[in-house]
Amino acid sequence: MNVILLGPPGVGKGTQGVLLAEGKGWKHMATGDILRANRREGTPLGQEAQKYMDAGELVPDDLIVAMVKDTLAALPQDQGVVFDGFPRTVPQAGALDLALEQLSRNVDRVVVLEAEDAVLVKRIAGRRSCPDCGSVFNVFMNAPKEEGVCDKCGAALVHRPDDNPETVQNRLAVYREQTEPLIRFYEGREGVIARIPGEGGVDENQKGIVTAL
Ligand code: AP5
Repeated sequence: MNVILLGPPGVGKGTQGVLLAEGKGWKHMATGDILRANRREGTPLGQEAQKYMDAGELVPDDLIVAMVKDTLAALPQDQGVVFDGFPRTVPQAGALDLALEQLSRNVDRVVVLEAEDAVLVKRIAGRRSCPDCGSVFNVFMNAPKEEGVCDKCGAALVHRPDDNPETVQNRLAVYREQTEPLIRFYEGREGVIARIPGEGGVDENQKGIVTAL
């Protein structure tokens, strides 16, 4: 099964994507995480992506599509995929359709997670991320056992560079302008879209997603 998690920054795509992939034995393909790993490793892709990410803008479609196609091509044919943060533009969605078709796959479900901006802003303000292993915590819920230290690898946690208030406002605007139109793009396909309230607790939201699949 190929499932897309769609929704604004901070709505919980990463949190829910990890749980869903673990529960189903699927690949969690989070383009933001792949880009951040490239930045940590200093690859040409990471260096190119940095200026867009830090400004809260989208990384150009051609770079993202090439990255996703490489990751998809390396997967076993029967491996399910949770797409988190991709596609984010109509051209990316078209490119995904083509790439999946070439692999005899298709988009089975698009789960749209929804929450008010005030909830998103508060969650992002509380997020602390591990720059080494990518684990995500939140000072308001799911705080690390030791303040500022990653439970999994012991690295010092950081506030993501794009999680400052001004950049968050731009990310929300970019979402409304460039990504939200994807809901209409997929609404034309019968039975594909599922809208899930994202303001509940983590477990409640996961149940909603699993039920909708
Ligand atoms: P990306 O990393 O994808 O960021 P995003 O879409 O802005 O989403 P976030 O990671 O901020 O939030 P999330 O929905 O995953 O929420 P999370 O689970 O962490 O992209 C970053 C940048 O990379 C983009 O701006 C762009 O530049 C570039 N990029 C990536 N993909 C691209 C693409 N396809 N095309 C072009 N550019 C691309 O949760 C947030 C916080 O809330 C956490 O602290 C979490 O613990 C907490 N939380 C989660 N669920 C709950 C809950 N139910 N209750 C309470 N707290 C919760």
